[in-house]
Amino acid sequence: MSKYKIAWMPGDGVGNDVMQATRIVLDHMKLDAEYVHCDIGWDFWCKEGNALPDRTVQALRSTTCGLFGAITSKPQDEAKEELIPELKNTGLVYFSPIVKLRQMFNLHTNMRPCKSYPGNPLNYRGNAITNPSGGDVVIDQMVFRENTEGMYGGVEFFPLPESVYTALCANPKMKPWKDKGFENIALSTRIVSKQGCTSICKQAFEFAKKNNRKRVTLIEKPNVLRETGGLMTRCFRAVAKLYPDIWADEANIDAICMWMFKNPQDYSVLVAENMFGDIVSDLCAGLIGGLGFAPSANMGDTYAVFEPTHGSAPKYAGQFKVNPIAMLLTAKMMLDWLGETMRAESLESAVSRVIREGKVRTYDMGGKATTIEMAQAVASHIS
Ligand code: IPM
Ligand code: MN
Repeated sequence: MSKYKIAWMPGDGVGNDVMQATRIVLDHMKLDAEYVHCDIGWDFWCKEGNALPDRTVQALRSTTCGLFGAITSKPQDEAKEELIPELKNTGLVYFSPIVKLRQMFNLHTNMRPCKSYPGNPLNYRGNAITNPSGGDVVIDQMVFRENTEGMYGGVEFFPLPESVYTALCANPKMKPWKDKGFENIALSTRIVSKQGCTSICKQAFEFAKKNNRKRVTLIEKPNVLRETGGLMTRCFRAVAKLYPDIWADEANIDAICMWMFKNPQDYSVLVAENMFGDIVSDLCAGLIGGLGFAPSANMGDTYAVFEPTHGSAPKYAGQFKVNPIAMLLTAKMMLDWLGETMRAESLESAVSRVIREGKVRTYDMGGKATTIEMAQAVASHIS
């Protein structure tokens, strides 16, 4: 029997391309794992009305962890259009299967590292004022995104049930919508808990302490979102007190988008609730060469699913054109989580070497190499 049983979820679009590439590297490293293929993604929504079939959920329960490629997510109306005729008008509702997975398996912590690797032609150089030397801006960030609560918690309504409408109307702030009628109102909620906020902040500070990081920045908007943002800010401050040697600072989501663009090298560990973490992690990815370089880990107490931050890029599906580095670095995070530290390190240093040497580059980096050739180049640097 293999040491690990890994749920293998390519999903759709380029998910399959980058997962195939990753398998070349994992096999080259002789990871003692059995890979269990699991159905997930857009095809299963269209054919079965469920992008995350029950058989997949069952299979996941018997695995050590999951590796996930990418999936297509579409708004409700477009999703309904693509159902097979037999399933149309059955009232099926589309949910993003990855968001569902995070919630089902209580994968409360999403870690998204963004590093500038030397030699990457896509590295950020800022502008002449902020970076007069003109060299690459050195970026090494880790985003901690709360992964199960907030705006992505899925508590949404349209039309608004009358009971919810009546309860909300008790608040004088409902005045602008009161006369519009419950049938004309849509509502998405932002529900956060003291437990959720405290947990994500604790993980961010623990990571900073273990990795000798000097600064942890909270990203919120408590001046407007007074209750949810307020609770998160209080939790952050309470946790920060336990780490007196770490600089705990606070930024608003809008302001950080500007500051990060100006001075990304100043930020180290970032922590945010679900939606702000989603937004800021794409911003960070943009600063290190784009989503082709941004891995992520969805972690719970005993289970984890690893996925690149990028989407399924359907127009490139099956062309073996996209950069597999985000997926390879995602596999590196999985190896770390499994305790395969040596393999994790050699994988990252091989990726770093391929980038530095610059001989094998995918189209986003200005080269002509395929997804597979990139993976082979990485594998060739692992002894
Ligand atoms: C991400 C993605 C997902 C998210 C989508 C595909 C549901 O954008 O992992 O960042 O919003 O979490
Ligand atoms: Mn995202």
